[in-house]
Amino acid sequence: MSRDFIEAVAHRRSYYHLDNRAVVDNSLVVGMMDELLATMPSPFNVQSARMVLLLDEQHRELWHIVLETLRHITPPERFERTKQKVERAFMAGHGTILFYEDEDALNRMRENFPLYAENVATWSEQSSGMMQFAVWTALEDMGYGASLQHYNPLIDKAVAARWLINPDWKLIAQMPFGAPLDSPAHRVASNPPHARRLIFGDIEKI
Ligand SMILES: Cc1cc2nc3c(=O)[nH]c(=O)nc-3n(C[C@H](O)[C@H](O)[C@H](O)COP(=O)(O)O)c2cc1C
Repeated sequence: MSRDFIEAVAHRRSYYHLDNRAVVDNSLVVGMMDELLATMPSPFNVQSARMVLLLDEQHRELWHIVLETLRHITPPERFERTKQKVERAFMAGHGTILFYEDEDALNRMRENFPLYAENVATWSEQSSGMMQFAVWTALEDMGYGASLQHYNPLIDKAVAARWLINPDWKLIAQMPFGAPLDSPAHRVASNPPHARRLIFGDIEKI
């Protein structure tokens, strides 16, 4: 990692204008995914996160699926704008990482820990969010620009059919990435950080 951790976290942004150039060798992206799959936390260490990496033509096919899905539900007068956005912000990139949660692993956790069964769905979303954040930050640290998208559940069936995804895997999010062509907008804080935290205890001793 070229930046320290807090710098890398602060550097992560949403990019909506991508180019399909490979910024690093694809094997480094796969290595990053493997490292995070091996190390990210999950409730009771259930390790329910699953990821699918789509590159180049496979990646563009995903965004064709999104466009064809949207074509059927978007008013025709709005579809052209939607198409331009999808093409420029997502399809034009180099790849997409699909984030899944394995419902089979989660159901086993429900059976093994019935006391916590009601928490499992929430914890699954939380640990997937941690994985998404880590991957997003790592992609940016490699020089890619990425964004986080949610065309699920609209696209779930078509994606599962195209890439023969295990039916137990539930699609949670899509992260298109590519060489960034835009500079992210200036960060706007709804409230300054000090208005969003409380501290109890002697700060001098921290
Ligand atoms: C849980 C979550 C869901 C999000 N969903 C979307 C989304 O569906 N589409 C999108 O373009 N951005 C999505 N975002 C990105 C946020 O809009 C973005 O992170 C926020 O505006 C701050 O901008 P930044 O990422 O450049 O720091 C999501 C972010 C989070 C944390």
